[in-house]
Amino acid sequence: MKDVRTDGQRKRVFIRTYGCQMNVYDSDRMADVLRPLGYALSDTPEQADLVVLNTCHIRERASEKVYSELGRLRDLKSERRLGGGDLTIAVAGCVAQAEGEEIIQRQPAVDIVVGPQAYHRLPELLARVARQSDDRRADGRRRPGAGVLDTEFPAESKFDHLPAPSEADVRAGSAFLSIQEGCDKFCTFCVVPYTRGAEYSRPATAVLREARSLVAAGATELTLLGQNVNAYHGEAAPSSIGGSTWGLARLIREIAEIDGLVRLRYTTSHPRDMDDDLIAVHGDVPQLMPYLHLPVQSGSDRILEAMNRGHGRDHYRRLVDRLRGVRPDLALSSDFIVGFPGESDADFDDTMRLVDEIGFASAYTFKYSRRPGTPGAALGDQLAESVKTARLAALQSLLGNQQRDFNASKVGAVVPVLFAEAGRKPGQILGKSPWLQSVYVEGGADMIGSIVNVRLLAAYALSLAGEVVADESPTRFEVAA
Ligand code: 5AD
Ligand code: SF4
Repeated sequence: MKDVRTDGQRKRVFIRTYGCQMNVYDSDRMADVLRPLGYALSDTPEQADLVVLNTCHIRERASEKVYSELGRLRDLKSERRLGGGDLTIAVAGCVAQAEGEEIIQRQPAVDIVVGPQAYHRLPELLARVARQSDDRRADGRRRPGAGVLDTEFPAESKFDHLPAPSEADVRAGSAFLSIQEGCDKFCTFCVVPYTRGAEYSRPATAVLREARSLVAAGATELTLLGQNVNAYHGEAAPSSIGGSTWGLARLIREIAEIDGLVRLRYTTSHPRDMDDDLIAVHGDVPQLMPYLHLPVQSGSDRILEAMNRGHGRDHYRRLVDRLRGVRPDLALSSDFIVGFPGESDADFDDTMRLVDEIGFASAYTFKYSRRPGTPGAALGDQLAESVKTARLAALQSLLGNQQRDFNASKVGAVVPVLFAEAGRKPGQILGKSPWLQSVYVEGGADMIGSIVNVRLLAAYALSLAGEVVADESPTRFEVAA
C-alpha cells in the first residue's frame, strides 16, 4: 500500500458519509474547507492522514455504526503511532451534535467532534489538535479526553464562511445545493429539531449565486436540499418585486432561468408546506422533474396525530390529486414508519390502504426507532420488535410491487437519462430517468455526465434496461440544443 507521506507535502483526508443527502452536501463542503489546507481526498482510511466520519443520528442503528467504525479507526491510529506516524480522527454530523463530549469519553482516540453548524471552523480545530500533538511529543503523553469539541450553533452562518463551490462539487453533471436547514415541526419520533436546530433558510441571493456557480462548474441537474425544504422562506434578492421573502416556488422559478440548467429537484418536503404556488410550479416549470418525495409516515389519522404531523390522510390525498392535476406524469415517493408507539392493526391497515390508493414509484420504510430525548421515546405502548418486523415486510411487499409496476409502465418509452457512473458489467453505464429510476445501457464512459435519450426495453424491481436512441426527436425534458 502507498505510504501517505511519500507524495511530498500533500495531506489526505478520507470522509465517510452516513445518512441523508444533506450529509453528502456537507461532506463535499468539508472537503472544500480542507482543500486550501493542502488536503486531497483519499479513497480509503488507510491512505489518509485525517478521517472524518460525517454521521447520522436519525435511527439507533445509524449511530451504532459510527461507534464500530471508530473502533476500527482507533486500531489504525495505534498502528500508525507504533510506526512513528499519526492519524487524526474527526466525528462530524448529527451524532457529533447529539452526543458531543460523550463520543470522546466512549472513544478517546477521537480528536475532533464538530457539529453540522460548525464545520467551517475545521481548520481552527485541526490547528488546536496539532498544538496538542506537539505538547504530547514534548511531555510524552496525551491527557485523557483531550479531543477538541465544537457543537455550537454559531451566530454566524457557516454558509457565509464556506468557499464558493467548484467542479469538485459536481458529480457527473449533478450537484446538491443546501438551501434550508433545521426543522421547527417537532414530529414526536424525530431527532432533527434537536440535532440540526431551528429552521433556517439561506438568503435567496446566496442560493442563486451558488446555483449559478454550480451550473458554471458543469451541473445540468441541481437538487435543492433541506430537512424541511418546502418550508423555505429566504430573504428576497434586493431588487425583487413581491415581498421581502421568497418561498420555494419563487426560488424554483428563478433557478430554472439559469442557462444550461436542465433538471431541478428538491427534497425533502412536508405535506403541510405544499402551498398553492408550489403545486402550480410543478405544472409550470418544465425543468422541475416529475418526481416528488413527499413523506407521509403513516396512513392513520390517529397515528399522524400522535406523531404531531399536523395533517391527516385526507390532506395528503388531496395534495396528491392536485399535484397530479397539474402534472399528470408526476411520480411520488415517500417515507413510512411502522410500529410507532400505540399503532394498532387497524392503524397499520390504514397505512396499507393509503399506499394502495396513492400508488408510489418508490419509498423508504423504517421500523420505529426509539430516540432518547424525543417525545415518542417516553410514550407507553412501545411495540414488540416482531410486530414491527411483520408490518415492515407487508408494507415493503406492497410498495415493492408498486415500484415494479411503475417501472414496467415506462417500458417502450423514450426518456432522457442523465448518466452518472459505470455499470456493474463492462461496457455498461448507469444513469437516472426523470423519475429517478436507475437505467442502464450499453455505452462508453464518455457519456457519463450527459443527458441522452434512451428507449426503455425491460423493467426490473429496482432498475430498467434500455438502449441509446440516436435520432429521436427531443422529448419534453430534452436538453436545449
Ligand atoms: N424511527 C424510525 N424512522 C425515523 N425517521 C425519522 N425518525 C425516525 C425514528 N425515530 C424516518 C422518517 C423520516 C426519515 C428521514 O427517517 O420516515 O422521514
Ligand atoms: Fe423530523 Fe418531522 Fe422535521 Fe421531518 S418534519 S425533520 S420528520 S421533525
